[in-house]
Amino acid sequence: MKGKIIVCGSQKGGVGKTVTTFNLAYALTSLGKKVLAVDFDSQGNLSTCMGIEDLRNEEKTIGHLMMAEIEDEPIEAVDDFIQNNAGIDFISANVYLSAVDTKLRLEMGAEKMLSNILEPLRNRYDYILIDTAPTLGSLTINALAAADSVIIPVNPQLLAMMGLQDFIKTVSKIRHRINPRFEIAGILLTMCDSRTNLCKVLVEEVNDTFKGQIKVFETCIPTTVKVGEAVYYNMAVEQYSPKSTAGIAYRNFAKELIGYEG
Ligand SMILES: Nc1ncnc2c1ncn2[C@@H]1O[C@H](COP(=O)(O)OP(=O)(O)O)[C@@H](O)[C@H]1O
Ligand SMILES: [Mg+2]
Repeated sequence: MKGKIIVCGSQKGGVGKTVTTFNLAYALTSLGKKVLAVDFDSQGNLSTCMGIEDLRNEEKTIGHLMMAEIEDEPIEAVDDFIQNNAGIDFISANVYLSAVDTKLRLEMGAEKMLSNILEPLRNRYDYILIDTAPTLGSLTINALAAADSVIIPVNPQLLAMMGLQDFIKTVSKIRHRINPRFEIAGILLTMCDSRTNLCKVLVEEVNDTFKGQIKVFETCIPTTVKVGEAVYYNMAVEQYSPKSTAGIAYRNFAKELIGYEG
């Protein structure tokens, strides 16, 4: 097994990165894939989705693994850092990751720290999914440098295009300077309210702008209150409400992605 490492990234917050990482992890798991989800945002939202209650006091987080890597004292017992929720393996994150962020900026050759941690885990998983923070800082660069591809969630309600070009530029810099195999898997439209005209117009706009340049996934994720409810119960939306439109959409998205990934 040689797993693919896929990062969910965007310099914008509130576009559905965390919800996508969580629900995609669940959908891939239901399709029989072995998945590791890595929380790489110091806010720890993915860890909360996974049911971690006392986040502040977690001591087995990705931040701790990163700090050990930076100090050149990598931790042997990585398994101690891997937890499980509903069949999905995950590594949590909390505010400690922001200390790592500060430190990374002062380190030489620090772009590959996360890659060094995840590479040895590739042979244990079909997919390793990384959730990132809405910045283009040193942590996000580490995530992009570790990955094979990036899914860019775009919320059409939030002035979809603004800032997207900056992110795409960063992706191409990463490819040229650090990680030549890196590519954009595609743009995923999240929180689409298909009933509104605005949403239709914005979806078209995204399609027109990036046609031929970047894939826009055919599957769009609809807006539904079930997503928030499911997160509250630490469940994927498909698990919480099997008939929910968003759950079905995330399953379809997982299939589309695997098709793409080959
Ligand atoms: N399809 C959806 N329908 C309704 N609410 C959603 C949907 N996707 C995400 N949300 C909500 O939008 C907010 C932002 O999503 P989140 O995944 O945390 O974004 P990000 O990680 O990009 O900041 C959260 O409150 C989440 O519950
Ligand atoms: Mg998030």
